[in-house]
Amino acid sequence: MTFFEKAERTRRWNLFTDIDWDAIDTAPPDPQLATNAETFCGVEMFLPDYLQTHLELFGRDYAQAWFAANWGYEESKHSLALREYLRRSGQRSEEQLHDYAGTVLSKRWERPYPSAREMLIYGMIQELTTFVVYRSQRTVAIETGHSVLADIYRLIGRDEMAHTKFYQHMVALHLDDDREGTLRDLAHVLRTFRMPAEQLLPDAEARTELMRSTGIDGRVYLRDIVAPTLTALRLTRHDLPGPRQAPPVEPSGLVLPTRTRE
Ligand SMILES: [Fe+2]
Ligand SMILES: [Fe+2]
Repeated sequence: MTFFEKAERTRRWNLFTDIDWDAIDTAPPDPQLATNAETFCGVEMFLPDYLQTHLELFGRDYAQAWFAANWGYEESKHSLALREYLRRSGQRSEEQLHDYAGTVLSKRWERPYPSAREMLIYGMIQELTTFVVYRSQRTVAIETGHSVLADIYRLIGRDEMAHTKFYQHMVALHLDDDREGTLRDLAHVLRTFRMPAEQLLPDAEARTELMRSTGIDGRVYLRDIVAPTLTALRLTRHDLPGPRQAPPVEPSGLVLPTRTRE
């Protein structure tokens, strides 16, 4: 209820009235920003698979099912906002976007971990990673005069941060319940984390290459994702069990952009 109340009172936004679509033509199109927007739109479009997984794992608990429904509503606007940006800015046609959606959903995202607790931890890391990516894209958009896109990243990034905090609360409850087991799962997920679905997108290699050249590297992963997560859970890396006391410096497959214009 606290999550819902805060969302309703402070975080709801409207795709049609809270984005200044009239300002969209003031900056010349930027192909890299557009390709990245399309990529994130694609990652967000695996919503059916994310929801199905969540409901499979948690769906007979009403609170958890409710969270999935509300979360799904919020996430559903993220792909729509990016899609509308690409369409209204003229960088993608209706037909291209239609084909893209078809191609994206011709593949299926499978959950990367077997247990509910690992998936909760994965969700916590994935939401924060998405927030960090949107924050960096927003910075680039501001610097290049793309105020509408910057605004979209601000709105959807704020949702991702709210989701991050919700998952952090959930994981903290698991730590109270079974500290040893939860720490073991946390260490495992932090070591093996990959962003969802990216490798399933069309032209995966080109997208990966573009992102890798500007990407979140191991240092950023530790600084902006692992460290704040551990702090939020009142942990340090020394609490994490396993063969290594900390996640690897270079998480394999983490190929997300921090900037796109260098
Ligand atoms: Fe999202
Ligand atoms: Fe999210």
